[in-house]
Formats: sequence, C-alpha cells, structure tokens
Amino acid sequence: MSVTTKTSQSAVYNDKVVRQFTIMTVVWGVVGMLVGVIIAAQLTWPELNLGIEWLSYGRLRPLHTNAVIFAFGGCGLFAASYYVVQRTCQTRIFSDGLAAFTFWGWQLVIVLAAITLPMGLTQGKEYAELEWPIDILIAVVWVAYAVVFFGTIGKRKVRHIYVANWFFGAFILAVAMLHIVNSAALPVDGFKSYSAYAGVQDAMVQWWYGHNAVGFFLTAGFLGMMYYFIPKQAERPVYSYRLSIVHFWALIFTYMWAGPHHLHYTALPDWTQSVGMVFSLILLAPSWGGMINGIMTLSGAWHKLRDDPILRFLIVSLSFYGMSTFEGPMMSIKTVNALSHYTDWTVGHVHSGALGWVGLVTMGSMYYLIPRLYGQKKMYSVPAIELHFWVATIGIVLYIAAMWIAGVMQGLMWRSINPDGSLTYTFVESVKATYPFYVIRLLGGLLYLGGMLVMAWNTFMTVRNGRSQDVQIPALKPDLNPAHA
Ligand code: HEM
Ligand code: HEM
Repeated sequence: MSVTTKTSQSAVYNDKVVRQFTIMTVVWGVVGMLVGVIIAAQLTWPELNLGIEWLSYGRLRPLHTNAVIFAFGGCGLFAASYYVVQRTCQTRIFSDGLAAFTFWGWQLVIVLAAITLPMGLTQGKEYAELEWPIDILIAVVWVAYAVVFFGTIGKRKVRHIYVANWFFGAFILAVAMLHIVNSAALPVDGFKSYSAYAGVQDAMVQWWYGHNAVGFFLTAGFLGMMYYFIPKQAERPVYSYRLSIVHFWALIFTYMWAGPHHLHYTALPDWTQSVGMVFSLILLAPSWGGMINGIMTLSGAWHKLRDDPILRFLIVSLSFYGMSTFEGPMMSIKTVNALSHYTDWTVGHVHSGALGWVGLVTMGSMYYLIPRLYGQKKMYSVPAIELHFWVATIGIVLYIAAMWIAGVMQGLMWRSINPDGSLTYTFVESVKATYPFYVIRLLGGLLYLGGMLVMAWNTFMTVRNGRSQDVQIPALKPDLNPAHA
C-alpha cells in the first residue's frame, strides 16, 4: 500500500488510474477480438449460432463492436490521455477520486453492455445500441472524464497546451455532445425506449453521430496518442508543429459535415447527400496532413524502424490511417458508393481503419506505457513484440484484402443484368461466392487475435516482474518543450 502523504502526492503523477486503464485495454482487446473471431466464424458456418439466442450473430455483432471500440479503444484512450495530460502539463491529475470514478464507471458500462447485448436489449442504433439507463451512466462518466481532463489542463504548470491535448480535448467534448444528442429517447420501461427523433431525422442524427464516432472516437483521440507517443518513441520533435495546428482545426471542422455519406440514395434530401460527399472528399487533405506529419517525424531517424518494433507499430498504423482515409473519401463519391454500399467492401474499409490504425496505434502506445508504468526499462520480451507486429500485420492484410475482393464481387454480381433486364445472379449465389473470402477473413482475424494473446502474455510477464512506483513530477525548466515532457 502506498503511504504517500497529501503534500508528497502532489509531487508525483497519478499513474494508478493509467495502470488500471492500460491493463484493461489489453484484457478487453482480447475479449473484443475473440468475439470478432466468433462472429467471423458464424458468417462462415452459421450453425455456430448453436441455436442459442444469446449467441446468435445479431446479438454478438453489437457485442463485438462495443467491446472493441468502447472497451478496448476507450480504455486505451483513457489511459493515454491521463498519462499524456499529466506529463505535458507537468502536474498531477485534477482529482484522484473523480479519475477513479471514471475507471470503475467505465468498467461498469462495459460489463452492463456485455450482459444486455446478448440478451437482445438494444435501441437498434449502430454503435449506440445500449439502452437508456446505461446511456445515462455513460453520460455521467463522460462528464466526469471531461472535468478530470480539463481540470488537469486548468492546473497545468506549463503555459503552452501541447497539441496532443487539443486532440484529446476535442474527442472528449465531441463524444459528450454526440452521445447526449443521439441517445435522446423516450423510455417505456427500464429496458426499452424509443428514439426522440423519427424517420429521416432519426437516420440523420444517427449517422451524424455514427460518422463523428469515427471522426472523434476512432480518429481524433488516437491522433492525440500519435502526437505524443511517436515523438517520444522516435526521440524526435514533431515534424511540423505548425502543420499539427492546421491539421487539428481542419480535421475537426470538416468531420462534422460528412455524416450523410452513410445515407446515400436514401430518403435524405439529395443536396444533403452531396454536402456529405463534398466534405468527405475535403477530409482527405487534413487526414493526410496528419499522417504525413506523423510519419515525417521520423525524418533523420528512419533507421530506428529497423530495430524498434514499437515504433513500427506506430508508423505502420499511420500507413493504414492514410489508406483508410484515402479509401473513405473515394467510397463517399455517390457513384462509387452505389457499388460499395451493403457489400463487404465497407467491412474491409472499417477494418483497415480499425485493425490497421486504431489497433496498431493503441498497441504501440501501450507497449510504450506498460514497462514505464511498472518500473521496467522495456517489455519482458522484445522478440514477442516483434512477433506480435508481424502476425497482426499479416492478419490485417488477409482480412482487408479478402473483404475488398468479396465486396467488389458482390457489388458487381448484384448489378449484373441479362439482355432481357432480369438479374444475372440470385442473391444466394453471391453469398456462395463469398464463402472462400469469409474463410480467409477468419484466418486473418485469428492471426490478429493471436498477436493480441502474445501481447497479453508479454504484459502479464512485465507486470509480474515489475512493480508500480510513483514517478516524481520534474521541476519546471524555463525552456520546456512540451513535446519532450
Ligand atoms: C480479431 C479481430 C477482428 C475480427 C475477426 C473482426 C470481425 C468482425 C466481423 C465478422 C464483423 C461483422 C461484419 C459484417 O457484419 O459483415 C465486424 C464488424 C465490425 N468490427 Fe470487427 N473484427 C475484429 C477487430 C475489430 C477491431 C479491433 C475493431 C475496432 C477497433 C473492429 C470494429 C468493427 C466495426 C466498427 C464493425 C462494424 C462494421 C460495419 O457495420 O460496417 N473490429 N468485425
Ligand atoms: C477521410 C476519412 C474517411 C471517410 C471520408 C470515410 C468514409 C466512409 C464511407 C463513405 C463509408 C461507407 C458508408 C456506407 O456506404 O454505408 C464509411 C464507412 C465506415 N467507416 Fe469510414 N471513412 C473515413 C475514415 C475512416 C476511418 C479512419 C475509420 C476507422 C478508424 C472508419 C470507419 C468506418 C466505419 C466503422 C464505417 C461503417 C459504418 C457502418 O455502416 O456501420 N472510416 N466510411
């Protein structure tokens, strides 16, 4: 047990909450990806539903998306933001009590999701499935998170607010707003509610939420990680600080307008769809600006990629970020979307972002954090990090290549018509043709999960050999560069 007094506490960082979130990132990563593998297997062999309603595909799918995005990704973001905001502000976290509340509150949300989703309790809104009592708990935890984060910024010892905190701050504010607006609903009982919006407005609010969940949860927060951990791991300052500021404002301004690309050719007014498409195309520029800024941070230190697997995780994540943010704008073009929508191409796009960008940047950042949080110089096994990197990368390539081919094939089969105007293929023929690609995707998923299990073992060994110790807040240097804090 720690015996630090109140005064001496303010001289050290609160890393306890960072440690807790870091460990749970690894735990939920394994769980969420395991459910991903199970549903990938169910799509290949539907009998794996086993006739049990709790294990049916329709119930496990939202369990997968919630577990990987909010449990794995969410815990990673909490851990990284709490670590980074303390280091770059040279101060202890705003409130230990509230920070602990965010940890336990968030774990409670996850456990409740894991219970209610297999029971079939859902609002039916993608990525916002959880029923109203859990939604209220999320809102409370999130507001507490905002208080802790901005409270820490408020008591900072450094005048400058480092750019990573701008991204974390935008992520926290935007997610609060998106969640509260999209979850507005009329409860009919403790387990059932109906959206406050109807018809096409409901669809628009949902995809304004959905797309900005991508933009702020799956992108802005992880860019915060990128702007801290890449310079730290590469031991180089950010390539262009000026570009990072332009990147920030351009990205957060543009994302908000792109939601309608999820509703092409629907009852949504046509001009709205066009606005969504145009803003999605514009989004390519800030996205690539950020990617280039991250990758170029390595200039003069490229050789480090050869023998530093953690840096490789971080830099390759940016390559996938670049790929998915090139593909996304292309898919938002209405004529392209006419082919890609409803097909596995979308699933391929999702996972090039999710596995390639979100997954790898989180793993790289956690590999940076874990030894430091447990008083170790490095992870228990560096070759195991190397192994994880290669297994995961091969897994991603198998997953996304299979889905791209399957998706384009499905789109072409569905639109193919005979000279007399009848359809060339029945739907079930396209399902049959997809089968081999589902097997390849499953293989890719198994590899990716295998890598995560290696990480879990490596984490366990590092924690077992290490010990948690308080880290002193360094005395302020007048020429402090926050990037080096
Ligand atoms: C072992 C790794 C993984 C496997 C095998 C896997 C598998 C799957 C499968 C089979 C689906 C359903 C696709 C469909 O309905 O046709 C899916 C959906 C999804 N997964 Fe994963 N997944 C994995 C990891 C991840 C991670 C790490 C994330 C996010 C960080 C993620 C985010 C998503 C999302 C957002 C969807 C919904 C896609 C959509 O609606 O288009 N997945 N996943
Ligand atoms: C410039 C950036 C991006 C643009 C313009 C973009 C655009 C698109 C488009 C057009 C779709 C297909 C909509 C449909 O036909 O239903 C889509 C789906 C999706 N994208 Fe992206 N994307 C971008 C980046 C990303 C990134 C980096 C990720 C993940 C980290 C991501 C995650 C998703 C998800 C989860 C969906 C599926 C939503 C669903 O139907 O459930 N996107 N995106």
